[in-house]
Amino acid sequence: MNDSLAIDARAITKTYGAGALAFTALKGVDFVVNRGEFVMLVGPSGSGKTTLLSILGCVLTPSSGSLSLFGRDVIAAGERRLPDLRLANIGFIFQGHNLVASLSAIENIELLLELRGRSRKQSRIEAMELLSAVGLADKFDRRPSDLSGGQRQRVAIARALAASPPLILADEPTASLDASSGLAITELLRRLATERGHTVVVVTHDNRIYHLADRIVRIEDGLIQGGETTDQTRTQRAQP
Ligand SMILES: Nc1ncnc2c1ncn2[C@@H]1O[C@H](COP(=O)(O)OP(=O)(O)OP(=O)(O)O)[C@@H](O)[C@H]1O
Ligand SMILES: [Mg+2]
Repeated sequence: MNDSLAIDARAITKTYGAGALAFTALKGVDFVVNRGEFVMLVGPSGSGKTTLLSILGCVLTPSSGSLSLFGRDVIAAGERRLPDLRLANIGFIFQGHNLVASLSAIENIELLLELRGRSRKQSRIEAMELLSAVGLADKFDRRPSDLSGGQRQRVAIARALAASPPLILADEPTASLDASSGLAITELLRRLATERGHTVVVVTHDNRIYHLADRIVRIEDGLIQGGETTDQTRTQRAQP
């Protein structure tokens, strides 16, 4: 076990369904991420990105393989422990945002802050700060149905950051954003990694944000491909 690793996933497989309908979406994936690293996961539609991210986020269990988060074996911990592990460690931005429809933007964020132990008063203050960070302070009292797709996406991002979970997983966070807000959101995630040591994994098709990653990992047909671009992206980032 290596404590400097945020994610240590080995030989992960995932088969959906059974019998004639069985489909193997992940075919033996190793995925290792250091603490404080910002990794982008890229690949064609259907290649297994959401499946892998969901397993890393403890919302889906693998069919086989091992997974440790911050040196802790989450599979051995057992399924009953997963909700607590998620709450303590993981901010998950889903593809399709998953906001609670009956709650306003700020209430969606406050809910998570309160679950993470903040008082009601403190939750309001921090939720407002998070909404400001994603440029939505003026929409704090709107329900998801009264927001645009991109605004909902930004509320979901703010909610994932509530109470600073050490691991942030994001499934196409910039998909419904215009170029400049997509870049601004990704720069926010980049800063969380650089300045506060958060570990960030972002699934994306958006090549306008690739330069912000420490490393780009490509997945195709359920398998990780070779391509490492760490040094190249680091160098690019260092350039003005
Ligand atoms: N619940 C499910 N039951 C059966 N098959 C599934 C299920 N979820 C995903 N799959 C299949 O597993 C494969 C990987 O799906 P996944 O959602 O991980 O792809 P993805 O890389 O995230 O694609 P996209 O870029 O379109 O979001 C796909 O072929 C998909 O059809
Ligand atoms: Mg997906």
